This record gives sequence, C-alpha cells and structure tokens, in this order.
Amino acid sequence: MKRIPEPELMDTDEQARAYAAADFSAAHQSYVTLFSETFPKRPATATVLDLGCGPADVTIRFAKANPGYTFHAVDGSAAMLNCARQALKSRRRLMERVKLMEGYLPGSSIPRKGYDLILSNSFLHHLHDPKVLWRCIRRHAKTGTLVFITDLFRPASRARAKALVRKYSHAEPPILKRDFYNSLLAAFTPDEITEQLAEAKLDQLRVNVISDRHLMIYGRIR
Ligand SMILES: C[S@@+](CC[C@H](N)C(=O)[O-])C[C@H]1O[C@@H](n2cnc3c(N)ncnc32)[C@H](O)[C@@H]1O
Repeated sequence: MKRIPEPELMDTDEQARAYAAADFSAAHQSYVTLFSETFPKRPATATVLDLGCGPADVTIRFAKANPGYTFHAVDGSAAMLNCARQALKSRRRLMERVKLMEGYLPGSSIPRKGYDLILSNSFLHHLHDPKVLWRCIRRHAKTGTLVFITDLFRPASRARAKALVRKYSHAEPPILKRDFYNSLLAAFTPDEITEQLAEAKLDQLRVNVISDRHLMIYGRIR
C-alpha cells in the first residue's frame, strides 16, 4: 500500500486534548524498559533531545526512570505543548529537568549541538519529508550519542489498518480513531526506513519491528 501523508502538526485543541487523554501507558512504559534493555551501558547523566514530544507522556516516563537526565522537548504544536505543561504542573521536580520548546522542524532553533541521547516517539510518520528527522539527528548528535526512536509502521493494506484501529482503539473517541488510521497510512515500512538511514549515512542505526504495529530505530552514532 502506498504511503498517504497526514498533516504534520497536531495543532487543534480538540486533537491535542484527545491525544493527551488517551491511554498509551502500556506502549509508552514498554519503551522505557526497551530503552534500558537496549542500552544497558547507558550513561547515568545525559542531556536528551525529544523530537515531537507532544503532551510529553513519553518524556515524563523517561525522566522518572532516568533521574540523571535533563530534557529538551520540542514540538511545533502550541496545543500539544499546553497539554505537556499541564502534565508537568503537578510534577515540580520534573519541571526542572524537562524544558518544553515550541518549534517547527526543520528550522527550529534547538539550543545544543551534541546531545547524549536523541529520543522520539510517533514523530517520524508525521513528517512529509523523513529527511527532516535524519538531518536533525546528524546536526544535534555527536560521536557516541544514543538514538532511540519508536514509531508505527505502515501495514500492508487499508483492511489491515482498519483491523488494527478496531483492535486497539475501539473504545476511543472518533477523532482518535481517525488519527490512528491516518497515522498507520502515513507511516513508513521498515524497508523504507532502512533505505532512508543508508541515504542519510546513518546506517549504524538498526530497525526492529517490536509489535504488530510498532518498530524501533536505535543505535549509537559513530
Ligand atoms: C503522534 S504525536 C507524538 C507525541 C509524543 N512523542 C508521544 O509519543 O506521545 C506527534 C507530534 O509531532 C509533532 N510534529 C509533527 N510534525 C512536526 C514538525 N515538523 N515539527 C515539530 N513538531 C512536529 C505534532 O505536533 C505532534 O505533537
């Protein structure tokens, strides 16, 4: 099935609130575990760039599990960052370690060059041009930077995408079902991502399928 891009930013209040209220806890917490299993020798302290942080649920879970890490969490949607601010409000101590930044990629002024970890969940499939992510990693990584990206992958057919929406979003509001379906159609296949990495000279990163709809892209920058 051919890729059908979806709008990049999730910038309506309704869309952001529905996304922030959805229960992604199982998948999001599993990424924290997967990260520690993937990088058993990760540093105890790190400066982390989280690209397309949305309501910061993933950022907050990583921050809780890694108390020595500080985060620059970037998103182009003011509505999403409002949700992130709300989520951080009741967590004063995390607020000191998570800096939210509004910025559209490419073009956003991310303050550092060499982050220790670059993190991103469910962002790549939003980009009309995936090179935006790979160039951003090139620009903001240094030798040894850990990269940990998780995302959806595109199923083989619309029928399969509909079946995944029924299986995982049947109880969710219509707007969330619509966004999930559109995201599945907009996502890249593992083979497409492998090609993108080769083209971006990031073939030290690996692509693994980790569930019936998710994949991870991970590795250490050389
Ligand atoms: C599906 S959400 C994922 C949010 C969060 N990472 C999570 O896992 O819950 C994708 C986010 O990427 C943001 N986004 C998409 N394209 C962007 C771009 N070009 N620049 C900045 N943010 C972008 C959207 O606004 C949205 O908040």
